[in-house]
Amino acid sequence: MTQTKTLSSFALDIRKGLTHDPKYISSKYFYDAMGSKIFRQIMALPEYYLTRSEYEILENHLSEILAAFQEHQDTFSLIEMGPGDGSKTKILIEHFMKQKVWFDYIPIDISQAELKGLTNDLKIAHPQLKVAPSHGDFFEILHQLNLHSHKTKIILFMGSTIGNFTHTESLAFLKHIRKNLSTGDKLFIGFDLKKEPKIIRKAYNDSQGITRNFNLNLLHRINRELDGHFNIDSFSHEPSYNPLTGEAKSYLVSHKAQSVKIGAFNTTIHFKKWEAIYTELSQKFDEEMILELAEKSGFSVDINFYDSHTYFTNSLWRAI
Ligand code: AVJ
Repeated sequence: MTQTKTLSSFALDIRKGLTHDPKYISSKYFYDAMGSKIFRQIMALPEYYLTRSEYEILENHLSEILAAFQEHQDTFSLIEMGPGDGSKTKILIEHFMKQKVWFDYIPIDISQAELKGLTNDLKIAHPQLKVAPSHGDFFEILHQLNLHSHKTKIILFMGSTIGNFTHTESLAFLKHIRKNLSTGDKLFIGFDLKKEPKIIRKAYNDSQGITRNFNLNLLHRINRELDGHFNIDSFSHEPSYNPLTGEAKSYLVSHKAQSVKIGAFNTTIHFKKWEAIYTELSQKFDEEMILELAEKSGFSVDINFYDSHTYFTNSLWRAI
């Protein structure tokens, strides 16, 4: 059969990843409407310390953060990479509005539903705030934005989203951000830190099975959007943590030899018994790794803000 329809980038990426050896699916595809909903459940899990740690940092350092953002000018553009539901950003925005700070806000996210929800919430809570949302993959969006204003630019990249990138991808992304900034502009970036391995393993293997649902949703999504025929019950969620490298990785493992048809690109994918699909890297960092990333991408580290357990850091970088 000839293919007449043009394939979406989701379809192309899934075809590429599932015909690759070893098989992989990019973690950016977690965040369809269902995946974004499950991720909100993850953020509320007792085992998922990342979100709580970052809340604590923001809440305890609001005035220092604002003072640092306003170093050069009272006014600034706040550009956020992947706000998701915006629950963390709202803490900052509430404070800035209360202090009558003049700024505009540009959220960039891959989840259209989350972006709409956040924009509506902000419109209701702060009708005076200028919000200019942008939907898409932030590797592709950044240079499309017209960021050549004279205002100071502050890039927010919270949640340890950078942990989803390999070292090479991280450097490419950070350099790309730097290219779109002027000297003195800032990057406020979240890093999940190395810690007791047991704590990390639990965060990606919670007792309620929410993270398992999050991972398996990738297969549901392929079934829904690409006419996939995955039998979800024959795959399991397999998280791991390597304390040598700080890499937390997740996989989906096939319990049996099986063939899965994917209608959208008319291909059958074969799985051997116990074959895995690599679905996510959640890199954990230490201070040296953070410093190295900053220095290699054209930034200096101004301040690291920590929570009381030193589980997480929000690092404020300056474009040099
Ligand atoms: C949103 C990328 C920070 O890696 O911890 C949560 C996503 N994956 N549980 C992370 C996630 C499994 C999360 N980030």
